[in-house]
Amino acid sequence: MFCPFCAPITFECMNMSKAKSTRDRRIALPGVTRVTRSSINPQDSRRSKPTDSGLVDDLSLMSVSEQQASLARKGKSYQSSKAVLSSSPSGSSVPRGALETISRLMKLGRVRNIVVVAGAGISTGSGIPDFRTPGTGLYANLAKYDIPYPEAIFNIDYFSDNPHPFFSLAKELYPGHHRPNYVHYFIRMLHQKGLLLRMYTQNIDGLEKLCGIPDDKLVEAHGSFATAACHLCYTPYPAEEAKQAIMNGNVPICTFCAGAVKPNVVFFGEDLPEKYFQHAQDFPKADLLMIMGTSLKIEPFASLVNTVKSTVPRLLLNRDPVGPFERRPLRRADYMELGDLSDSVQKLAEILGWHSEIQDLMNSHETGLCSYTDPSNSSGENSDSSETDSMH
Ligand code: OAD
Repeated sequence: MFCPFCAPITFECMNMSKAKSTRDRRIALPGVTRVTRSSINPQDSRRSKPTDSGLVDDLSLMSVSEQQASLARKGKSYQSSKAVLSSSPSGSSVPRGALETISRLMKLGRVRNIVVVAGAGISTGSGIPDFRTPGTGLYANLAKYDIPYPEAIFNIDYFSDNPHPFFSLAKELYPGHHRPNYVHYFIRMLHQKGLLLRMYTQNIDGLEKLCGIPDDKLVEAHGSFATAACHLCYTPYPAEEAKQAIMNGNVPICTFCAGAVKPNVVFFGEDLPEKYFQHAQDFPKADLLMIMGTSLKIEPFASLVNTVKSTVPRLLLNRDPVGPFERRPLRRADYMELGDLSDSVQKLAEILGWHSEIQDLMNSHETGLCSYTDPSNSSGENSDSSETDSMH
């Protein structure tokens, strides 16, 4: 079946074509509305905010991202806040970079429905390697598993033939050894301020739940270790029993069809969880997209970032430009801060005046977690995250 997301074809793609049986709890991928630049009239978008001259200035700062990216391409280091000058409403020139611009929009109350799109880069600060960073990424360090190519370890057909490489790796990947870091708690703070519409994560480390982002705010697009099922017939299997078998070097076997059971981590060739399709409602509602720590290489997830309206600001926080942020010219409402994610997020928190609040939250939550959390439980049951407060 044609995958609507896979252009250009060089992206890797989760399966869109698996035959559906009545047992299959997942659903077919609906079409995603892609709002193109030509479908939005920039004049209209400006006219809709006539009273906020500062905001108009902000949205017209196309050159912010372009200059930054150009410096990045030339290998020059920079900090976005120092990269450009923009006009203040009073007419004087003041330095304003991506973080200042986005925090200004937030402080003005123009942002109330933030969608966060995240990948492995948000967890490197917790000591978990990402996938594709040369040298340190997981895919550069799989030699001991003797697999034909790195992604085979997460390929469902390869798993069907030989589940042992994945099960060996799974012993290391099972949640329980790592703590959430400042970046996770920043996202939880977005929730507490009543600003987080949804977080879409590709991560399977469970750290979002562990830091207290509640289930209804979180879409684990590539699944998790929290549940397990047969990879052939999808019959559920007790997650803890699957974990014990895997930890003991055994293959958990489905009691219904005798297929190998695996944690419900989404493999290449598998369907994404039903919850993922919530994106069709969420992304059109977003008024700010924060993209953090992902190479945007894996479809269909990567193309989600193209499904917000073209006037919606997109902020990339990453080491390198990725996805649409690699193209020139950048979209007018695109901003990026390149560098270490923890530094960038902390800088943003400082500009917003949230830094000490996040540190307090992190300290109290981590202390609480450490005193009573079962390391094998990544369900976030102990979270106090139902509380939200307002930014304003
Ligand atoms: P990748 O490893 O592909 O990308 C991580 C991105 O984060 C890269 O652009 C890094 O430069 C950046 N990064 C890492 N650490 C950072 C830091 N401290 N500060 C700033 N940037 C940092 O990981 P994902 O995009 O999450 O699929 O990979 C997507 C999917 O590919 C994963 O979900 C996984 C994999 O195959 C499955 O497991 C099924």
